[in-house]
Amino acid sequence: MPAVGGITAGGKEYPGNLTPFVTVTCVVAAMGGLIFGYDIGISGGVTTMPSFLRKFFPSVYRKQMEDKSTNQYCQYDSQKLTMFTSSLYLAALVASIVAATVTRRFGRKLSMLFGGLLFCSGAIINGAAKAVWMLILGRMLLGFGIGFANQSVPLYLSEMAPYKFRGALNIGFQLSITIGILVANILNYFFAKIKGGWGWRLSLGGAMVPALIITVGSLVLPDTPNSMIERGQHQEAREKLKRIRGIDDVEEEFSDLVAASDESKKVEHPWRNLLQRKYRPHLTMAIMIPFFQQLTGINVIMFYAPVLFETIGFKSDASLMSAVITGSVNVAATLVSIYGVDKWGRRFLFLEGGTQMLICQAVVTAAIGAKFGVNGNPGDLPKWYAIVVVLFICIYVAGFAWSWGPLGWLVPSEIFPLEIRSAAQSINVSVNMIFTFLIAQVFLTMLCHLKFGLFLFFAFFVLVMSVFVYFFVPETKGIPIEEMSRVWKSHWYWSRYVTDEDFPYRGGVEMGKNGQAVKEV
Ligand code: BGC
Repeated sequence: MPAVGGITAGGKEYPGNLTPFVTVTCVVAAMGGLIFGYDIGISGGVTTMPSFLRKFFPSVYRKQMEDKSTNQYCQYDSQKLTMFTSSLYLAALVASIVAATVTRRFGRKLSMLFGGLLFCSGAIINGAAKAVWMLILGRMLLGFGIGFANQSVPLYLSEMAPYKFRGALNIGFQLSITIGILVANILNYFFAKIKGGWGWRLSLGGAMVPALIITVGSLVLPDTPNSMIERGQHQEAREKLKRIRGIDDVEEEFSDLVAASDESKKVEHPWRNLLQRKYRPHLTMAIMIPFFQQLTGINVIMFYAPVLFETIGFKSDASLMSAVITGSVNVAATLVSIYGVDKWGRRFLFLEGGTQMLICQAVVTAAIGAKFGVNGNPGDLPKWYAIVVVLFICIYVAGFAWSWGPLGWLVPSEIFPLEIRSAAQSINVSVNMIFTFLIAQVFLTMLCHLKFGLFLFFAFFVLVMSVFVYFFVPETKGIPIEEMSRVWKSHWYWSRYVTDEDFPYRGGVEMGKNGQAVKEV
């Protein structure tokens, strides 16, 4: 009986090194994560800046100025305010569907370039905003940019990387997301102090910087060999592969890429195709992984850390500072996963991170519940109490940052066969964005109604997702990307959907029609 984790023996080993060329290329591409991160981190801080609220959301501002002894849980509950944060994710959702076709037909590189340009225009409009509609329009353009970048960057990295280092290089994307968030938190902290109250313009307009980095970066990057072959440029692709791997002997890998591409050409309707039985595991992962990633509740912290900290009794300045602290933990813990993902594997990180998050959510629930009760009125907050809450929120963030954070992007990008890769990645991005949107949109209302029970809501999902990983997510560490079918074929559950008949040319052994091995590879 195959193992729960679905580890298989045997398989290919492509020669090739972690060349400086591939490293630099991946670092530049990973910068695509900066634009996403910057946005996640910037909006929460901006929405606690009084001058910003007074100008665009006066009703929230007034509510805030009222007597603080009233219910703290509800002071930011405004649909218009959350729309500012979450409109971006709706736009990203739409864009990722268009981006699937662009990524497939015109390559990963062009998709990144589009992302950068759209993002630039959004940053300009936001920085210059005079009315709420400008804010929302700007956020939507930023969202379109993110849709393109999140579609193309993870695929780009997984295709470029030598398979043994794929995890580490791919997590470069998540690392730059976390750096983007942290930089945004730090800038908010300083810009909020600007006399005259126009600091928010710098915060929002500052998105230009990461936008320019990815725009210029994408102009100098080469496209991936997989994508060149997909578009018929075989000779260039072979040369590029030699350059990337740093060796001349790339024939084996090259011919497998061509085989994967030929196979994918037979597929006329990648979207409809996804519904075929043999893609059931892929479709399941494309939906469940991003869904679960968002249901960890991480974005409650990422978007609203300043709001949350203020709610539980910190002063405005201390709240922005606490966001800087959680942001730093997020970056540091991502480095741990870069180190460990190709050593300890994906499953270990998923399960460890899940357990850690669960424990922290329980502690934070108890701590906030004990102090605020159900009427949201804390009285005086002792210092030790604030420290305990921030500490456990940090441990929670670390748990996420070495598990579901990076793996939520890595695992989907490495499991889809080429013929459905762009379409499936677009489902992954879309589901991620829908749930990011929903959480951004309903969190403040949920906080208002569920109060401290909110954290238990997310804890429940963390438990469910850990059980899901244990039974259904196979280990994908160290498996070449175009050979991934073998992890499904030997999985206790997924093997009923994916057989040798379905993916004959992969898996180290080529199978004949009757299931006999005809060629050992
Ligand atoms: C998630 C984001 C999240 C970020 C936090 C990403 O992987 O997709 O929603 O805000 O991690 O670091």
